[in-house]
Parts: sequence; structure tokens; C-alpha cells
Amino acid sequence: MTLGVNIDHIAVLREARKINDPDPLMALAICAQSGADQITIHLREDRRHIHDEDARRIVAASPLPVNLECAIEPSIIDIVCALRPHRATLVPEKREEVTTEGGLDVTGNYQSILNAITKLNEHEIEVSLFIDPTREAIEASERLGVQWVELHTGSYANLYAMRHSALPHTHHAIKSLNLPRRDLDNLLENAYGALVDAANYARSLGLKVAAGHGLNYQNISPIVNIDTIEELNIGQSIIARSVFTGLATAVSDMKALCQR
Ligand code: PXP
Repeated sequence: MTLGVNIDHIAVLREARKINDPDPLMALAICAQSGADQITIHLREDRRHIHDEDARRIVAASPLPVNLECAIEPSIIDIVCALRPHRATLVPEKREEVTTEGGLDVTGNYQSILNAITKLNEHEIEVSLFIDPTREAIEASERLGVQWVELHTGSYANLYAMRHSALPHTHHAIKSLNLPRRDLDNLLENAYGALVDAANYARSLGLKVAAGHGLNYQNISPIVNIDTIEELNIGQSIIARSVFTGLATAVSDMKALCQR
């Protein structure tokens, strides 16, 4: 299974001081030498971490294919077309969110997504849609003629953290659920089952399948066992670990866990 390393959080650290250090560009060679297969970045509309100049330098210098996440806004799509990354992953964006909290509403935004895909494909950029693991979203993605879908693993990851973590706080989104532990086994099983079903269904329709969001060194192994998923995109947990181990070890440890 291939590993895309999302390096946005290096830019998050830089933006905490609004200086030039650490430079996300420095991660490219380390990721490539440590077993990563792809670099993933998110050019958000508010530019809260990766800036246009970062994206330009990363696409130009990366020894690995670059997967650029972006919203379906025409002005952003124009920028992505000019940058020419290997792939664009279309994601929903809300300014107030801490991170991308759900998949795209593929049926509700059908025409705007189609316009974005057409334009990106014309610029020889393959397209992935970041979707919730539902048959409805997959069928709409297939109708849109997209090359990839990326399944949102956030529900699975949140429930996994609640079920297995003894820490008093695990994730801002799950604290409010306040569920009894016995309900968590079922919910976690359902969230995992939805990913298995969605991945198998998407693959049966000829789509390539990636997955990501909230994956870490603890919860990754059941996801690696879903053999219709070809690629994982992981950011937060790798960059968090790199603070203690260095980026090379954090990436190579995660890559080892991606082996089937
Ligand atoms: N995939 C997509 C489409 C995302 O938006 C994100 C978060 O930016 C990730 C993967 C990585 O998520 P995390 O940082 O939780 O590993």
C-alpha cells in the first residue's frame, strides 16, 4: 500500500511564528528517502498553512508525485491548473473548521465538481474526490468520471480513539458524543464496515481508492487489511511523531505499517 505524507503541519508550525522556519520544502527529500510514495499538501482558501509560493516550490522540486488538496472554487482550480501537480484531491472546506471534517457533498455540488474535474483533466491532472464512505457518494463519483476517490476515515479514527484511548481528552469532535463504552464497539465496527464496503464497491466500479484522515500508528492496521485501498494519506500523526523521532524515522515507521 502506498503512503502519501501530508506535510501541511510543517507549515502550521512555521505560521505559528510567521517566519520562514521550518520550511516544508525541506521535507521532500527526507520523505522520499524514508519510503514515502507521494507528497500531499492542502492549499486552503484562507492560506492558513501552505501558501501559493510553497505549492509552487513543492510541485517544482518534489522528487515524488504531488497530490494537491483544494476546494472546488474556480479561482483555486485555476491556480492548481497552473501549478500542474500530479493529482488534485477535491475537498470540502469550511473556514471555521480545524481540519477537513467530512467528505464532499458529491450529489449536491455535482455540476461545480464536474466543471472542476473537466478543467483539471484538460491540464493533465488526475482528480480524486474526498468522500464519505457511502455507496451514494461512490456512484456519483463514478458518474463524474473521476479517476480516484479518497475515503474519509475520520469517523473510524475518532471512534477508535474513544474506544482505545485512556487519555482524558482524545479529539475535540468526539468529546461531545459522551457515549458509553459498550456502544463504541458497535459504532466502531459499523464505521470500519462502511470503509470496507465503500472501498470494495468503488474498486468494483473501476475507481482507484485512497483513504485518509485521522490515521495514526495505532489505528492504521485494520485499514491496511482492506486490500481494495491502494493508498493512504497521513499528516498529523507523522508530523507529530517527527517532533520526537525526526521526520525520517516517523515516515519510515509509518511506511513499515503500510506493508501488507
Ligand atoms: N486526506 C485528506 C483529503 C485530508 O484533507 C487530510 C487532512 O488535511 C488528510 C488526508 C490527512 O489527515 P491527517 O492529518 O488527519 O492525517
